Amino acid sequence: MTKVIWHGHLTFSVEHDDVTLLIDPFFDGNPAAKISKDDVTPHYILVSHGHADHIGDAAYIAKKTGATVISNFEIVTWLQNQGVQNAHPLHIGGSYRFPFGRVKMTIAHHGSGLPDGSYGGNPGGFLITFNNGKKVYFAGDTALTYDMTLLADEQVDVAILPIGDNFTMGPEDALKAVKFIRPRVVIPAHYNTWPLIEQDPHAFKARVEAETDARCVVLEVEGSYEF
Ligand code: NI
Ligand code: MN
Repeated sequence: MTKVIWHGHLTFSVEHDDVTLLIDPFFDGNPAAKISKDDVTPHYILVSHGHADHIGDAAYIAKKTGATVISNFEIVTWLQNQGVQNAHPLHIGGSYRFPFGRVKMTIAHHGSGLPDGSYGGNPGGFLITFNNGKKVYFAGDTALTYDMTLLADEQVDVAILPIGDNFTMGPEDALKAVKFIRPRVVIPAHYNTWPLIEQDPHAFKARVEAETDARCVVLEVEGSYEF
């Protein structure tokens, strides 16, 4: 059983068998969050890029729980300099087999500056292939990119896409992304955290389900989808 839980913004947990991955942990200062950074106990923390609304509480949670951080080399080094013990660096296009499955870092068109102004390398997304073959694609913050067509070969089960516009793809481009990726299920995120990224996820769902073969699952904050 694989369970995807939305914590608001682009913060997700993915529970698979007895392992929990926490992606882009942003609890402190996240107006959409309903739980706190002390309520999560991940085994792994995946960080897509250096922006504060994504790296958020990664250092705190990693140091408290001993979770292994998976991110690009620059972000991993920055976190290690803050006392994070367990970390695994990846970079765009690279993948590594962890005990739960393989994680590949994918292209994102965005920025990655760290909260203190340090260089955060290139932004990315993650293609997670669990040992039983289930696949989750987490796009991260990104523009629509034609490279997403490469993911159609992967037969992605669940694609997590930003739809907020302004800083990332908006609904129009996210719909094109669904047509490129052809996932079984799409979960929209990175919207309604602030007025600047207000969107109607149900309007997005209606268009996805009218124009593609994908199902769109609109989660409430702390809601989940199992597959
Ligand atoms: Ni960002
Ligand atoms: Mn963001």
